[in-house]
Amino acid sequence: MGATIIDGKAFAGKVREKVAGHVSRLKEEHGITPGLAVVLVGEDPASQVYVRSKGKMTVEVGMTSIEHKLDVDTAEADLLALIDQLNKDPEIHGILVQLPLPKHLNEDLVINAIDPAKDVDGFHISNVGLLGTGQKSMVPCTPLGCLMMLRDHHGSLSGMDAVVIGRSNIVGKPMAQLLLGDSCTVTIAHSRTKDLADVVRRADIVVAAVGRPEMVPGDWIKEGATVIDVGINRIERDGKTKLVGDVAFESCAARAGAITPVPGGVGPMTIACLLANTVTACCRANGLAEPEGLTA
Ligand code: GUN
Repeated sequence: MGATIIDGKAFAGKVREKVAGHVSRLKEEHGITPGLAVVLVGEDPASQVYVRSKGKMTVEVGMTSIEHKLDVDTAEADLLALIDQLNKDPEIHGILVQLPLPKHLNEDLVINAIDPAKDVDGFHISNVGLLGTGQKSMVPCTPLGCLMMLRDHHGSLSGMDAVVIGRSNIVGKPMAQLLLGDSCTVTIAHSRTKDLADVVRRADIVVAAVGRPEMVPGDWIKEGATVIDVGINRIERDGKTKLVGDVAFESCAARAGAITPVPGGVGPMTIACLLANTVTACCRANGLAEPEGLTA
Protein backbone atom coordinates (compact mmCIF):
# COMPACT_ATOMS: atom_id res chain seq x y z
CA MET A 1 0.00 0.00 0.00
CA GLY A 2 1.36 3.43 -0.92
CA ALA A 3 1.27 6.26 1.57
CA THR A 4 -1.35 9.00 1.51
CA ILE A 5 0.34 12.12 0.19
CA ILE A 6 -0.50 15.05 2.47
CA ASP A 7 -1.07 17.93 0.06
CA GLY A 8 0.33 20.97 1.87
CA LYS A 9 -0.25 23.21 -1.11
CA ALA A 10 -3.99 22.51 -1.14
CA PHE A 11 -4.19 22.67 2.66
CA ALA A 12 -2.38 26.03 2.68
CA GLY A 13 -4.90 27.30 0.12
CA LYS A 14 -7.73 26.36 2.52
CA VAL A 15 -6.00 28.08 5.44
CA ARG A 16 -5.56 31.25 3.35
CA GLU A 17 -9.25 31.12 2.37
CA LYS A 18 -10.20 30.89 6.03
CA VAL A 19 -7.88 33.80 6.84
CA ALA A 20 -9.39 35.85 4.01
CA GLY A 21 -12.89 35.18 5.42
CA HIS A 22 -11.84 36.46 8.84
CA VAL A 23 -10.17 39.50 7.29
CA SER A 24 -13.43 40.34 5.44
CA ARG A 25 -15.40 40.07 8.66
CA LEU A 26 -12.91 42.23 10.56
CA LYS A 27 -13.23 44.89 7.87
CA GLU A 28 -17.01 44.75 7.46
CA GLU A 29 -18.07 44.31 11.07
CA HIS A 30 -15.33 46.22 12.89
CA GLY A 31 -13.67 48.50 10.31
CA ILE A 32 -10.30 46.90 11.09
CA THR A 33 -7.75 45.81 8.48
CA PRO A 34 -5.05 43.49 9.84
CA GLY A 35 -1.57 44.78 8.99
CA LEU A 36 1.70 42.85 8.71
CA ALA A 37 5.10 44.57 8.64
CA VAL A 38 8.07 42.63 7.28
CA VAL A 39 11.58 43.94 7.85
CA LEU A 40 14.41 42.78 5.58
CA VAL A 41 17.99 43.85 6.27
CA GLY A 42 20.41 43.34 3.38
CA GLU A 43 19.99 41.61 0.05
CA ASP A 44 20.18 37.88 0.69
CA PRO A 45 18.54 36.44 -2.46
CA ALA A 46 16.60 33.67 -0.67
CA SER A 47 15.29 36.16 1.92
CA GLN A 48 14.23 38.54 -0.86
CA VAL A 49 12.20 35.75 -2.49
CA TYR A 50 10.50 34.86 0.84
CA VAL A 51 9.73 38.49 1.66
CA ARG A 52 8.23 39.12 -1.80
CA SER A 53 6.10 36.02 -1.50
CA LYS A 54 4.92 36.97 2.01
CA GLY A 55 3.96 40.46 0.81
CA LYS A 56 2.02 39.12 -2.16
CA MET A 57 0.02 36.62 -0.12
CA THR A 58 -0.66 39.15 2.64
CA VAL A 59 -2.32 41.42 0.08
CA GLU A 60 -4.18 38.48 -1.52
CA VAL A 61 -5.99 37.70 1.74
CA GLY A 62 -6.99 41.36 2.10
CA MET A 63 -4.50 42.49 4.74
CA THR A 64 -2.18 45.48 4.65
CA SER A 65 1.43 44.59 3.84
CA ILE A 66 4.22 46.96 4.82
CA GLU A 67 7.79 46.16 3.79
CA HIS A 68 10.85 47.85 5.25
CA LYS A 69 14.01 47.11 3.27
CA LEU A 70 17.12 48.27 5.07
CA ASP A 71 20.76 48.47 3.95
CA VAL A 72 23.01 45.57 4.83
CA ASP A 73 25.09 47.87 7.08
CA THR A 74 22.12 49.28 9.02
CA ALA A 75 23.09 50.13 12.61
CA GLU A 76 21.47 48.06 15.35
CA ALA A 77 20.09 51.22 16.98
CA ASP A 78 18.32 52.17 13.74
CA LEU A 79 16.75 48.72 13.40
CA LEU A 80 15.63 48.84 17.05
CA ALA A 81 14.14 52.31 16.47
CA LEU A 82 12.13 50.96 13.52
CA ILE A 83 10.86 48.05 15.62
CA ASP A 84 9.86 50.49 18.36
CA GLN A 85 7.94 52.55 15.81
CA LEU A 86 6.15 49.42 14.49
CA ASN A 87 5.40 48.27 18.05
CA LYS A 88 3.59 51.56 18.65
CA ASP A 89 1.74 51.64 15.30
CA PRO A 90 -1.93 50.66 15.89
CA GLU A 91 -2.36 49.73 12.21
CA ILE A 92 0.35 47.06 12.48
CA HIS A 93 -0.71 43.81 14.15
CA GLY A 94 2.18 41.59 13.11
CA ILE A 95 5.91 42.24 12.82
CA LEU A 96 8.38 39.86 11.20
CA VAL A 97 12.11 40.51 10.98
CA GLN A 98 13.46 38.23 8.28
CA LEU A 99 16.31 35.99 9.46
CA PRO A 100 19.21 35.52 9.16
CA LEU A 101 20.33 39.06 9.99
CA PRO A 102 23.74 40.37 8.93
CA LYS A 103 26.46 39.29 11.37
CA HIS A 104 26.90 42.69 13.09
CA LEU A 105 23.29 42.60 14.37
CA ASN A 106 22.36 40.68 17.53
CA GLU A 107 19.45 38.49 16.47
CA ASP A 108 18.25 37.72 20.00
CA LEU A 109 18.27 41.40 20.95
CA VAL A 110 16.37 42.37 17.81
CA ILE A 111 13.73 39.61 18.07
CA ASN A 112 13.17 40.33 21.76
CA ALA A 113 12.59 44.01 20.96
CA ILE A 114 9.39 43.08 19.10
CA ASP A 115 6.16 43.47 21.11
CA PRO A 116 5.35 39.79 21.95
CA ALA A 117 1.70 40.42 20.99
CA LYS A 118 2.88 41.36 17.47
CA ASP A 119 5.54 38.63 17.24
CA VAL A 120 3.87 36.60 14.47
CA ASP A 121 6.99 34.43 14.16
CA GLY A 122 6.61 33.31 17.79
CA PHE A 123 10.36 33.73 18.35
CA HIS A 124 10.21 36.25 21.24
CA ILE A 125 11.41 34.78 24.53
CA SER A 126 7.98 35.48 26.10
CA ASN A 127 6.19 33.48 23.41
CA VAL A 128 8.71 30.66 23.74
CA GLY A 129 8.02 30.58 27.49
CA LEU A 130 4.25 30.77 27.05
CA LEU A 131 4.29 27.88 24.56
CA GLY A 132 6.54 25.83 26.87
CA THR A 133 4.13 26.30 29.76
CA GLY A 134 1.03 25.57 27.70
CA GLN A 135 -0.27 29.13 27.77
CA LYS A 136 -1.75 31.17 24.94
CA SER A 137 1.10 32.44 22.75
CA MET A 138 2.11 33.25 19.21
CA VAL A 139 3.27 29.92 17.73
CA PRO A 140 6.13 29.65 15.19
CA CYS A 141 4.66 29.28 11.70
CA THR A 142 6.36 26.15 10.37
CA PRO A 143 5.61 23.94 13.41
CA LEU A 144 2.07 25.34 13.53
CA GLY A 145 1.61 24.29 9.89
CA CYS A 146 2.93 20.80 10.66
CA LEU A 147 0.56 20.50 13.63
CA MET A 148 -2.44 21.56 11.52
CA MET A 149 -1.64 18.89 8.91
CA LEU A 150 -1.16 16.21 11.59
CA ARG A 151 -4.45 17.10 13.31
CA ASP A 152 -6.25 17.15 9.98
CA HIS A 153 -4.92 13.71 9.08
CA HIS A 154 -5.26 11.98 12.47
CA GLY A 155 -7.88 13.90 14.40
CA SER A 156 -6.45 13.27 17.88
CA LEU A 157 -2.67 12.78 18.32
CA SER A 158 -3.09 11.68 21.94
CA GLY A 159 -0.74 8.90 23.04
CA MET A 160 1.17 8.71 19.75
CA ASP A 161 4.97 8.32 19.75
CA ALA A 162 6.47 11.32 17.97
CA VAL A 163 10.10 11.85 17.03
CA VAL A 164 11.30 15.28 16.00
CA ILE A 165 14.67 15.18 14.26
CA GLY A 166 16.35 18.55 14.74
CA ARG A 167 16.49 20.88 17.75
CA SER A 168 16.36 24.35 16.22
CA ASN A 169 14.55 27.19 17.96
CA ILE A 170 12.54 27.85 14.78
CA VAL A 171 11.23 24.31 14.16
CA GLY A 172 12.47 21.41 16.30
CA LYS A 173 11.94 22.74 19.81
CA PRO A 174 8.55 24.44 19.25
CA MET A 175 7.36 21.39 17.25
CA ALA A 176 8.17 19.16 20.21
CA GLN A 177 6.25 21.50 22.54
CA LEU A 178 3.20 21.45 20.27
CA LEU A 179 3.21 17.65 20.02
CA LEU A 180 3.55 17.42 23.80
CA GLY A 181 0.62 19.82 24.08
CA ASP A 182 -1.41 17.38 21.96
CA SER A 183 -0.42 14.55 24.36
CA CYS A 184 2.15 12.78 22.20
CA THR A 185 5.13 11.01 23.77
CA VAL A 186 7.89 13.15 22.29
CA THR A 187 11.55 12.49 21.56
CA ILE A 188 13.80 15.23 20.19
CA ALA A 189 16.63 13.65 18.23
CA HIS A 190 19.63 15.49 16.77
CA SER A 191 23.10 15.06 15.31
CA ARG A 192 24.48 13.51 18.52
CA THR A 193 21.60 11.07 19.06
CA LYS A 194 22.85 7.50 19.49
CA ASP A 195 21.28 5.06 17.04
CA LEU A 196 18.93 7.50 15.35
CA ALA A 197 17.56 4.65 13.21
CA ASP A 198 16.26 2.84 16.30
CA VAL A 199 14.72 6.01 17.71
CA VAL A 200 12.92 6.78 14.44
CA ARG A 201 11.71 3.17 14.08
CA ARG A 202 9.62 3.57 17.25
CA ALA A 203 7.79 6.63 15.95
CA ASP A 204 4.15 6.89 14.86
CA ILE A 205 4.96 10.45 13.79
CA VAL A 206 8.32 11.53 12.36
CA VAL A 207 9.02 15.23 11.86
CA ALA A 208 12.32 15.70 10.01
CA ALA A 209 13.83 19.18 10.37
CA VAL A 210 17.59 18.90 10.08
CA GLY A 211 18.40 20.48 6.72
CA ARG A 212 20.29 17.43 5.39
CA PRO A 213 19.11 16.13 2.04
CA GLU A 214 17.38 12.73 2.20
CA MET A 215 19.07 11.73 5.46
CA VAL A 216 16.15 9.56 6.65
CA PRO A 217 15.97 6.35 4.62
CA GLY A 218 12.78 4.32 4.21
CA ASP A 219 13.96 1.42 6.36
CA TRP A 220 13.94 3.71 9.44
CA ILE A 221 10.20 4.28 9.06
CA LYS A 222 7.72 2.19 11.04
CA GLU A 223 5.06 0.66 8.81
CA GLY A 224 2.12 3.08 8.63
CA ALA A 225 3.87 6.01 10.35
CA THR A 226 3.16 9.62 9.38
CA VAL A 227 6.19 11.46 8.00
CA ILE A 228 6.34 15.26 8.01
CA ASP A 229 9.30 16.53 6.01
CA VAL A 230 10.32 20.10 6.87
CA GLY A 231 13.53 20.04 4.83
CA ILE A 232 13.95 22.07 1.67
CA ASN A 233 17.35 21.20 0.18
CA ARG A 234 18.58 22.15 -3.25
CA ILE A 235 20.72 19.39 -4.77
CA GLU A 236 22.27 18.59 -8.15
CA ARG A 237 21.10 15.28 -9.64
CA ASP A 238 21.55 14.06 -13.19
CA GLY A 239 22.88 17.49 -14.12
CA LYS A 240 19.73 19.20 -12.86
CA THR A 241 18.92 21.23 -9.75
CA LYS A 242 16.27 19.53 -7.66
CA LEU A 243 14.48 20.29 -4.37
CA VAL A 244 14.49 17.41 -1.90
CA GLY A 245 13.49 17.08 1.72
CA ASP A 246 15.26 15.62 4.75
CA VAL A 247 13.72 12.19 4.06
CA ALA A 248 14.26 9.92 1.07
CA PHE A 249 10.76 10.36 -0.35
CA GLU A 250 10.27 7.22 -2.45
CA SER A 251 11.56 4.71 0.10
CA CYS A 252 9.82 6.45 3.04
CA ALA A 253 6.53 6.66 1.10
CA ALA A 254 6.72 2.90 0.51
CA ARG A 255 6.47 2.27 4.29
CA ALA A 256 4.68 5.32 5.67
CA GLY A 257 0.92 5.63 6.10
CA ALA A 258 1.10 9.30 5.13
CA ILE A 259 3.87 11.65 4.03
CA THR A 260 4.35 15.26 3.00
CA PRO A 261 6.11 15.82 -0.34
CA VAL A 262 8.88 18.34 -1.08
CA PRO A 263 8.00 20.68 -2.65
CA GLY A 264 4.28 21.06 -1.92
CA GLY A 265 4.17 19.82 1.66
CA VAL A 266 5.22 21.85 4.69
CA GLY A 267 6.64 24.78 2.67
CA PRO A 268 3.35 26.39 1.57
CA MET A 269 1.94 26.01 5.09
CA THR A 270 4.54 28.34 6.62
CA ILE A 271 3.33 31.53 4.94
CA ALA A 272 -0.32 30.47 5.37
CA CYS A 273 0.34 30.19 9.12
CA LEU A 274 2.08 33.57 9.16
CA LEU A 275 -1.14 35.06 7.77
CA ALA A 276 -3.17 33.06 10.31
CA ASN A 277 -0.98 34.38 13.13
CA THR A 278 -1.46 37.95 11.91
CA VAL A 279 -5.25 37.59 12.01
CA THR A 280 -5.01 35.99 15.45
CA ALA A 281 -2.79 38.86 16.69
CA CYS A 282 -5.24 41.41 15.24
CA CYS A 283 -8.23 39.78 16.96
CA ARG A 284 -6.40 39.61 20.30
CA ALA A 285 -5.27 43.24 20.00
CA ASN A 286 -8.88 44.30 19.52
CA GLY A 287 -10.39 42.07 22.20
CA LEU A 288 -12.26 39.99 19.61
CA ALA A 289 -12.82 36.23 19.56
CA GLU A 290 -9.94 34.41 17.91
CA PRO A 291 -10.54 32.56 14.66
CA GLU A 292 -11.06 28.86 15.31
CA GLY A 293 -8.73 26.28 13.79
CA LEU A 294 -5.99 28.80 13.01
CA THR A 295 -4.11 28.57 16.30
CA ALA A 296 -2.62 25.78 18.39
N1 GUN B 1 14.06 32.83 7.78
C1 GUN B 1 13.78 31.55 7.43
N2 GUN B 1 12.61 31.15 7.98
C2 GUN B 1 12.16 32.20 8.69
C3 GUN B 1 11.00 32.41 9.47
O1 GUN B 1 10.14 31.54 9.64
N3 GUN B 1 10.87 33.64 10.03
C4 GUN B 1 11.81 34.62 9.88
N4 GUN B 1 11.60 35.78 10.48
N5 GUN B 1 12.89 34.46 9.15
C5 GUN B 1 13.07 33.25 8.57
